Amino acid sequence: MEIFSTIKETRDCLINLKKEGKTIGFVPTMGALHRGHISLLEQAKKENDISVSSIFVNPTQFNDKKDLEKYPRTIEDDILKLKAAHCDVLFAPGVEEMYPSTLVKEPEIDLGNLGKVMEGKLRPGHFQGVCTVVKKLFDIVLPNKAYFGEKDFQQLAVIKYMVRILNIPVEIIPCPTFREADGLAMSSRNVFLNPDERKNVPLIYKTMMEAKLLNTNKTISELKKWVEEKVNENPFLKLEYFEIVNSETLQLITDTHLPITGCRACIAVKVGTIRLIDNIAL
Ligand code: PAF
Repeated sequence: MEIFSTIKETRDCLINLKKEGKTIGFVPTMGALHRGHISLLEQAKKENDISVSSIFVNPTQFNDKKDLEKYPRTIEDDILKLKAAHCDVLFAPGVEEMYPSTLVKEPEIDLGNLGKVMEGKLRPGHFQGVCTVVKKLFDIVLPNKAYFGEKDFQQLAVIKYMVRILNIPVEIIPCPTFREADGLAMSSRNVFLNPDERKNVPLIYKTMMEAKLLNTNKTISELKKWVEEKVNENPFLKLEYFEIVNSETLQLITDTHLPITGCRACIAVKVGTIRLIDNIAL
């Protein structure tokens, strides 16, 4: 695996490979890699000649400084995992390389409703930061296809939208959420759960799956209330939101009679100081 920390080295290497007619599959990450990330890389390898990953803890997408400081950084371990998965190229820049001047204000993208609901509402500026860094990474790596987990469903919708409105020539490939045996969605933040919290968090996925079964005989507000009570009666969990949204526009669905199909149920739960998100198709 080639490892680069500068934009120039990365671009030179990848432009040469593209000139040879090779296709590039890209998996952008913030490191602290788990099985979910590796599954994205495996898919990228299957569908492209060259697999590229990036590791960059992007400061502009953290609206909370403390969250940025404590985000897990495990670069040595990540490199071993990427090598074991036969990743061809890793781009791991520092903050200076990606943001050489703090004086320049990055251009904002009008995300409309996509940036206003759920995570967009609770984490102001988060998706602008994601768009800024993903656009920069696409400009550097020039991927044919880029792979994103459905676990961050709103991020996936935002990136698909950005690529469409900015005419970026990359195909966005959504990949299914990877789960632990007890249903917990894999996330780099799971390492922060203490043993008691870890024992209780599978209730998040379990509740959503049960809500899916109740989709037949309740109104949406009854279903939302049911989920809220179910989550909040566990002393380790506090519901931030449970929403049913249109899978493309993420428009909140509030006034339709159940059952509904072709939508997404999305949840955010506070577990101590940690926030976990998850979603399922309805
Ligand atoms: O999902 C992530 O890990 C990050 O938001 C991403 C897409 C790598 C951008 O920093």
